[in-house]
Amino acid sequence: MRLLTAAIATVALTFGAQAVTAAPVEIKFSHVVAESTPKGKMAIRFKELVEQRLGDKVTVSVFPNSQLFGDDKVLEAMLLGDVQMAAPSLSKFQKYTPALQIFDLPFLFNDMGAVDRFQQSETGQELLNSLRKKGYVGLGYLHNGMKQLSANSPLRVPADAEGKKFRIQTSDVLAAQFEAVGGVPLKKPFSEVFTLMQTKAIDGSENPWTNIYSKKFHEVQSYITETDHGVLDYMVVTSAEFWNGLDDDLRAEVKKALDEAIAYGNEEAAKLAAEDRQKIIDSGRSEVLQITEAERELWVEAMKPVWKQFSSDIGQDLINEALKANA
Ligand code: LMR
Repeated sequence: MRLLTAAIATVALTFGAQAVTAAPVEIKFSHVVAESTPKGKMAIRFKELVEQRLGDKVTVSVFPNSQLFGDDKVLEAMLLGDVQMAAPSLSKFQKYTPALQIFDLPFLFNDMGAVDRFQQSETGQELLNSLRKKGYVGLGYLHNGMKQLSANSPLRVPADAEGKKFRIQTSDVLAAQFEAVGGVPLKKPFSEVFTLMQTKAIDGSENPWTNIYSKKFHEVQSYITETDHGVLDYMVVTSAEFWNGLDDDLRAEVKKALDEAIAYGNEEAAKLAAEDRQKIIDSGRSEVLQITEAERELWVEAMKPVWKQFSSDIGQDLINEALKANA
């Protein structure tokens, strides 16, 4: 009889416990780059911090290298609840808001310091809300770095790009940038870039150092010109439905962990850009070309008309604000 009572009590406890234990919140974080990049490292740090602090209340699974979704699908998947977080490059939001195209304007920011100052300014922070109407919440900016041009022939002056096919991200500003130097831009997913280079389906591309090194683009491109002509940065996004559905305290904890992970990712970005640039040079697989000030000026002159082409879409006031960050 005592045994029976104990058994009933155990069953009751088990079912009782199940009834009150809420299932953990699951955050799937999907991205397209390698784990060794600023974004890859930030995502892993975020997972570690959340799981350390929130224990079994939240689980984070990180899917790098386009394993779960490419950037063409990830935002739609987010609204369907198939993924909760991603950090697409700022170039990938054109279809949701024209304002973020500001980050694609060639030669707008002098360096990453200026990019950071603009992102942290009141205007930059307001831009995090530019996706609200489409159902997304911008949680923060993450750096990768300045972009370099690569090709199978040396690109020293704009005329060298004439007739060459360049892979670009899905951005009309970037298309206009390559058209301005007589190039042929092709919008292609990041996961295809290596093969496109290897098979010579494209002649060249533009990428930050960490993406070139981690995806071995320098092994299939003979020349990389150090142009620093534009920026490749990210916005960490989630869906408003998921975010607002979290309990207030939990949301605050998750945001805190994310802010810390982003700060870490941003420190890594600066370090990795310098390290990966050097590793590429040391590898001897691709020649890194320096251009003179006069040569650089030719690229600026050729590409800068793109600002005017997009000033009404983006907003001239916004462009003026961004320029202030160079001071
Ligand atoms: C690209 O498509 O080139 C980049 O957006 C990849 C990335 O996430 O850095």
